[in-house]
Amino acid sequence: MAYSEKVMDHFANPRNVGEIENADGIGEVGNSKCGDIMKMYIKVDNNIISDVKFKTFGCGAAIATSSMATELIKGKTIDDALKLTNKAVMEALDGLPPVKVHCSVLAEQAIKAAVSDYYRNQGIDPEPIVGKQSDDCAHCHDCGEE
Ligand code: FES
Repeated sequence: MAYSEKVMDHFANPRNVGEIENADGIGEVGNSKCGDIMKMYIKVDNNIISDVKFKTFGCGAAIATSSMATELIKGKTIDDALKLTNKAVMEALDGLPPVKVHCSVLAEQAIKAAVSDYYRNQGIDPEPIVGKQSDDCAHCHDCGEE
C-alpha cells in the first residue's frame, strides 16, 4: 500500500515542528518496537491547548502522524486532546500501511505524556485523569499486528 497524499504532505511539510519555551507540559515517549522517539510541548490556557509543538526522531509515518495530531489538538480542550486516538489520527491522514500503524501510537502517547506533565506541574496526580502510561500495545487501536 502506498502512502496517501495527506501522509506525504504532512511528512514533507510537518506542522508545528519545534519546541515551546516555558511549555506548560512536555512529554517524551519512545516506540518500543523501533526505538524512535517523540517529544511534545504544550501550552495550556484555561484548560485549552493554546499551542503545541513536537520533535520526532523517527520515521516518516511518525512525523506525519505527529504533525496531524498536533493540528487536531490545537485549540481543543485537554479532555478532547486526551480522547484523540491513533486511529482517529490515521483516519485524518486517509490511512497508513499496516506495518506503519504502530508509528501512529507515538503521537497519541506523547499527547498523554505532555498532559500528564502539565498536571504534575500543577500539583495534580495525572493518573486518575490520563490513565496509566505504558509503552506496550495497549493503546494501539486497530493495530492488526499480533
Ligand atoms: Fe519507528 Fe515508525 S518505524 S515510529
